[in-house]
Amino acid sequence: MLKDKNIIVGVTAGIAAYKAVDLVSRLKKQNANVEVIMTENATKFVSPLTFQTLALNPVYVDMFKEPRNYDVEHISLAEKADVFLIAPATANIIGKIANGIADDLLTTTIMATKAKVIFAPAMNTNMYLNPIVQGNMDYLKGLGYEFIKPGIGILACQTYGPGRMAESADIVEYVIDSFYDKDLVGRKILVTAGPTIEPLDPVRYITNHSSGKMGYKIAEEANKRGADVVLISGPTNLEPPTGVEIIKVNTTREMFNAVEEHFYQCEVLIKAAAPLDYRPEVVSNEKIKKKDGEKDELNIKYIRNPDIVAHFGNLKKNQIVVGFAAETNNLIEHAKEKLAKKNLDFIVANDVSKDGAGFKTDTNLVTIIDKDGMVTDYPILDKLQVAKIILNKVKELINDKS
Ligand code: PMT
Repeated sequence: MLKDKNIIVGVTAGIAAYKAVDLVSRLKKQNANVEVIMTENATKFVSPLTFQTLALNPVYVDMFKEPRNYDVEHISLAEKADVFLIAPATANIIGKIANGIADDLLTTTIMATKAKVIFAPAMNTNMYLNPIVQGNMDYLKGLGYEFIKPGIGILACQTYGPGRMAESADIVEYVIDSFYDKDLVGRKILVTAGPTIEPLDPVRYITNHSSGKMGYKIAEEANKRGADVVLISGPTNLEPPTGVEIIKVNTTREMFNAVEEHFYQCEVLIKAAAPLDYRPEVVSNEKIKKKDGEKDELNIKYIRNPDIVAHFGNLKKNQIVVGFAAETNNLIEHAKEKLAKKNLDFIVANDVSKDGAGFKTDTNLVTIIDKDGMVTDYPILDKLQVAKIILNKVKELINDKS
């Protein structure tokens, strides 16, 4: 993911320096070129040799050491950096940068870089909450420096509160995300995902096999590309993507109401959910009992639920509305009918009877059909890849409209 990216990691003097070892190792596993600059004091916590061994690069500490090459180190590292990550970042380094102090190799390099600088603070809770530190961070944020929030927990100094350096995996994810093309910044995108359920009685309901994976990947990807995302989700076991506003619903009518509440503020509606088309006409207040002596049958009358995407597709003014079609036969024919009937901008058709496609799987096999009838087939792809393709298409339509 970080292939050919130059990540300069600045390690400052905090006990969390030991966590930076894992961080460097994880960045390397993402195929980044990692170079480490340590402050003199940081070397008292972890040896430069540890970082050198993991990063497979020399570790820089001393500004005035014999030059290893003819470049001025703080300039060459500053220029080389695609991202500059300071982890752990002490109150001291934050304060120095906020006040323009450049008195060692790390601070001079940060000052000289035009790359994105990300701090992962780690310090005692009281220090972290100190208005001076908070003020320094606010000031730096205003200048475009970024901060990865520390975790809350028991710290090495035995205090409880914020100040624990974010987990390495989350920091790596943050770095990966920083390379995202933020081409959907400020776009308001509404995504639906998962199944709906319709109760029969207090203990039973009907539903379908949707896991929510497809819709969640779309929401996650749109958020990473800078969109403001509202995700309306039926019941799933998935963790909501970070940064996305999530609204949980059960029934199709609840999903309809949630879409109605947000539709008029959004520019794009993507309906990846699989809402139930029918619900039992009567929901029993009590558990439905077996009745001895009667026929071995239970007849339940079902009535139609609203077709959410058709309703809003036909109401849309300037919005882009994208639907899915889950079919088991005549994929293109049925998808084309839905595209027209629901007044969609395009439809993502998947034959859910095929291996690796549709419900529950991590992959999907889709065909996208445009309003003008263009049909594009894709091979089996990870649902994240499918999400990217859908959002690229959405982006094209947004561009056409503006
Ligand atoms: O959730 P996963 O396990 O990852 O599976 C993904 C998926 C198979 C659910 C997804 O790829 C998909 O195909 N979603 C649409 C499922 C569906 O309901 O298809 P449909 O052909 O019955 O409906 C067509 C469109 O109308 C869909 O956009 C659907 O969201 C929408 N619809 C359907 C019924 C209804 N009452 N209201 C709707 O808005």
